[in-house]
Amino acid sequence: MEKKAHLALLFIFILSCLATDQSHGKKQTEALGHLYKAKLKKNSGIDTSHFEAIQDVNEAQVLPQDWMKERDRIKRLPGQPHVGFHQYGGYVTVDKSAGRALYYYFVEAQHSKKSLPLLLWLNGGPGCSSLAYGAMQELGPFRVHSDGKTLYKNKFAWNHAANVLFLESPAGVGFSYSNKTSDYVNGGDKRTAADNYLFLLNWLERFPEYKSRDFYISGESYAGHYVPQLAHNILHHNKKANKTIINLKGIIIGNAVINDETDVKGMYEFFGTHALISDETSHQIQKYCDFSPSATTQSDECNVAFDEANKEVGDLDIYNIYAPLCSSSNLTAEPKKTSIENFDPCSDYYVYAYLNRPDVQETLHANVTKMKYDWEPCSDVIKNWEDSPSTIIPLLKEFMAKGLGVWIFSGDIDGRIPVTSTKYSIEKMKLPVKTSWHPWLLDGEVGGYTQVYKGDLTLVTVRGSGHQVPSYQPARALSLIKHFLTGKPLPNTSQS
Ligand SMILES: *[C@@H]1O[C@H](CO)[C@@H](O)[C@H](O)[C@H]1NC(C)=O
Ligand SMILES: *[C@@H]1O[C@H](CO)[C@@H](O)[C@H](O)[C@H]1NC(C)=O
Ligand SMILES: *[C@@H]1O[C@H](CO)[C@@H](O)[C@H](O)[C@H]1NC(C)=O
Ligand SMILES: *[C@@H]1O[C@H](CO)[C@@H](O)[C@H](O)[C@H]1NC(C)=O
Ligand SMILES: *[C@@H]1O[C@H](CO)[C@@H](O)[C@H](O)[C@H]1NC(C)=O
Repeated sequence: MEKKAHLALLFIFILSCLATDQSHGKKQTEALGHLYKAKLKKNSGIDTSHFEAIQDVNEAQVLPQDWMKERDRIKRLPGQPHVGFHQYGGYVTVDKSAGRALYYYFVEAQHSKKSLPLLLWLNGGPGCSSLAYGAMQELGPFRVHSDGKTLYKNKFAWNHAANVLFLESPAGVGFSYSNKTSDYVNGGDKRTAADNYLFLLNWLERFPEYKSRDFYISGESYAGHYVPQLAHNILHHNKKANKTIINLKGIIIGNAVINDETDVKGMYEFFGTHALISDETSHQIQKYCDFSPSATTQSDECNVAFDEANKEVGDLDIYNIYAPLCSSSNLTAEPKKTSIENFDPCSDYYVYAYLNRPDVQETLHANVTKMKYDWEPCSDVIKNWEDSPSTIIPLLKEFMAKGLGVWIFSGDIDGRIPVTSTKYSIEKMKLPVKTSWHPWLLDGEVGGYTQVYKGDLTLVTVRGSGHQVPSYQPARALSLIKHFLTGKPLPNTSQS
């Protein structure tokens, strides 16, 4: 299991030796670094062209789901405190002949579940689990104690604002699997988006009360690809059918991979301006490295500067440059004192222990086929990634043209896909400003900054937050999602 490895971005191969501590399993950063290194080289065979929707949905893959909802009901998770909302977990088959099934975990809203929207959350990687991060360390209703076997409540859970669906995707991530092992080497963005779409169609058969509900898609990191690509498939098929098959209203992505060139440029700039690397190294990188999608190789000077940057950044948590590191991967006999406001950097280990317990897997209706490997927060079994467009900006433009809500947020102390990257990527869209940059407030403090572009696209920063915003700034994250879902601008004043 790799700690902190939600996205092993490009070039970040240079940093892959940083996020150390791999007591179980492999290093996600290496796997992904590998993907992106290949992507940067251009001779890898990875398709970086624009994303295309799946043209035909095989109706035969949309199956009746009678009784399955009740079968998936989770009465109570092992070690769980009492709660008043319903939870469900189980598999949805997305390809019957391959034997490919995706695992979901669903928590109904804490109140008004009949009127609040349906919100899907996706983590990135590629290869990282929405159960590991989204559900158990970020916005889900529970967190795992340091004993690895009991749970405590997250009072800032997003099911205060929506019915929240977590999906482990693609097959090979977490409990999601395929019986056809070649699926683990020939997947990529396109198949992920196609499977996610088929998952939704089937899931809505299983939970028909959500069929016409307002639907939103959220996610972070490499889900900057997954979220828009799934949204694109939904819009494409609604249009083709000339009816609203899925009632998509908006998307929201955080510290997201948007546009390779600006993502990387912004990352090195962040390192330089946050005193993680020297001015000399910064200048060398600016001068000699070419991050444009047309670059095929980097000069020796650039490679030397990369190595130098790697050394200079040192052994810190690049996903939150000011966070403490986890000093011991051991569980504790008694739960440590917890604080939702003060994220425990060892949480990955607690979640790993909890989700690998046979009683937990049974209660979750997970791992029914008794897989031969452990549940991991980031996949060990996905070995290759075939397609990954260099930019998703055209998709964002499409959503704006179609009147969807488009929000982009950024925890401002993440060094992996930092706020500088996000700002450069949005700048690339050349949008006129509608509401100028200003602070937004929560409880009398600046929660971050926001700017709205004509169109409408909303940029929101979350002050003092690393890559996983709901982990590091849970109250601000909840305020952010509430405003997004209700379409209200974040407040300039302390009320609301
Ligand atoms: C995968 O194979 C196992 C064992 O044959 C089977 O029980 C399971 O239903 C298959 N999964 C799917 C999604 O078909
Ligand atoms: C689409 O549906 C609307 C009614 O919902 C109808 O007026 C229109 O003619 C349909 N368009 C096509 C191309 O079938
Ligand atoms: C962690 O557990 C191992 C094995 O039980 C033990 O040797 C080690 O001292 C423990 N480390 C800490 C920091 O408690
Ligand atoms: C599935 O269950 C088997 C048998 O209990 C266990 O060894 C394996 O680690 C589990 N794998 C996953 C992915 O949950
Ligand atoms: C917040 O401040 C901005 C910039 O000063 C302004 O344009 C906007 O109208 C204000 N919003 C509210 C809700 O007061």
